[in-house]
Amino acid sequence: MQVIGNAGDGKDAKEMELEKVLHMKKGFDHTSYARNSLFQRIVTTLAGSIIEERIREVYVTLRPKCLMMADMGCSSGPNALQVVSRIIDVIDDASRTINRQCPQFGVFLNDLPGNDFNTLFNLLPSFNQGLQEAEGSSFRPCFVSGIPKSFYGRVFPDNFLHFVHSSYSIHFLSQVPRGLVSENGEALNKGNIYIAETSPQEIHKAYYAQFKKDFTLFLKLRSREMVSQGGMVLVLQGSFNSDNPDSIHSLLGSTLQDMVLKGVIEQEKLDKFNMPFYAPTIEEVRKLVEAEGSFALNKLEAFTTDWSIDTSQNLETRAKFVAKTLRAVTEPLLETTFTHGIMDDLYLLFEIRVKERIARKKGEYFNIVLSVTKKE
Ligand SMILES: C[S@@+](CC[C@H](N)C(=O)[O-])C[C@H]1O[C@@H](n2cnc3c(N)ncnc32)[C@H](O)[C@@H]1O
Repeated sequence: MQVIGNAGDGKDAKEMELEKVLHMKKGFDHTSYARNSLFQRIVTTLAGSIIEERIREVYVTLRPKCLMMADMGCSSGPNALQVVSRIIDVIDDASRTINRQCPQFGVFLNDLPGNDFNTLFNLLPSFNQGLQEAEGSSFRPCFVSGIPKSFYGRVFPDNFLHFVHSSYSIHFLSQVPRGLVSENGEALNKGNIYIAETSPQEIHKAYYAQFKKDFTLFLKLRSREMVSQGGMVLVLQGSFNSDNPDSIHSLLGSTLQDMVLKGVIEQEKLDKFNMPFYAPTIEEVRKLVEAEGSFALNKLEAFTTDWSIDTSQNLETRAKFVAKTLRAVTEPLLETTFTHGIMDDLYLLFEIRVKERIARKKGEYFNIVLSVTKKE
């Protein structure tokens, strides 16, 4: 069973299945992921040349009549369709270069069943119209479907996909690592929700062990589903150091601790809550890809982005942007343990903490881009 509120007491009734509760903030209101995912869109755009290079090579090598591609962890905003439309542009251009008719496209948008697919599907008519207008007479049908399933299980038949893309999703784990709670049920990562300065060494070990298991499984499963010479590009959040305690999640954890001190939430609840998330180092990713063995590594690069993306804005605007971006991702998870009623206050306090922090020290995400080819 996949759990988030890891009680560690073996009572499954207390556990929640992560697959059922993990989703970004639904809908299209001012706190939704659809409206607060500019950060992720910019990161994917910055990785764009690697995505374009890989898909072009895959197409020119395999020349399929219908190119099958999947976006794993597509979420509910416009980001997924933006990547797809960029990929179609690249293929259209490559087809002209090699003097072939542009292929048809099978596009599979994958996420967990709790994802707000409706918001995504509502964007499809204008997406299709935009494609038709942009591609003109060379327009070929693009068949888009939603696939509500965990990417830590089989999603597609054998030898089916030519290209797999995933942005800002693979750092989500299949479950909160079990080792965050002792055998007698005592929380080991007290006062934190992720690896933080006060976390004991076992916490990092438990997180890395879970990531190793999940990422290796992800590679194995995708290698079964992809054709030989197929390509995959993964963009994920990483870390400078393997047990980096200075992340935005540790700041969110200390904001929750402030709420405990104010008497708004219970210490015990915070002590037992941990994020199902791990940001690996570039070397950890390299080692796991090589050890799994199904893929040849084309590129493995990293770049940093400021938490607020645009450092020319004033501190208030930047802190608001950072808090809204993180709220759209983390609020549904926090609501599994803490009440909905505290969320506005929590993220307001978090915004204040972010402002204090970026006034004193730069806050940066470390982003990893991995480009691989499925071996023969
Ligand atoms: C931060 S969003 C990124 C969405 C989109 N790719 C983007 O760049 O804006 C991460 C997405 O990964 C999805 N996700 C996490 N674990 C997953 C899993 N095991 N299977 C499928 N999707 C998953 C989440 O539900 C969420 O929608």
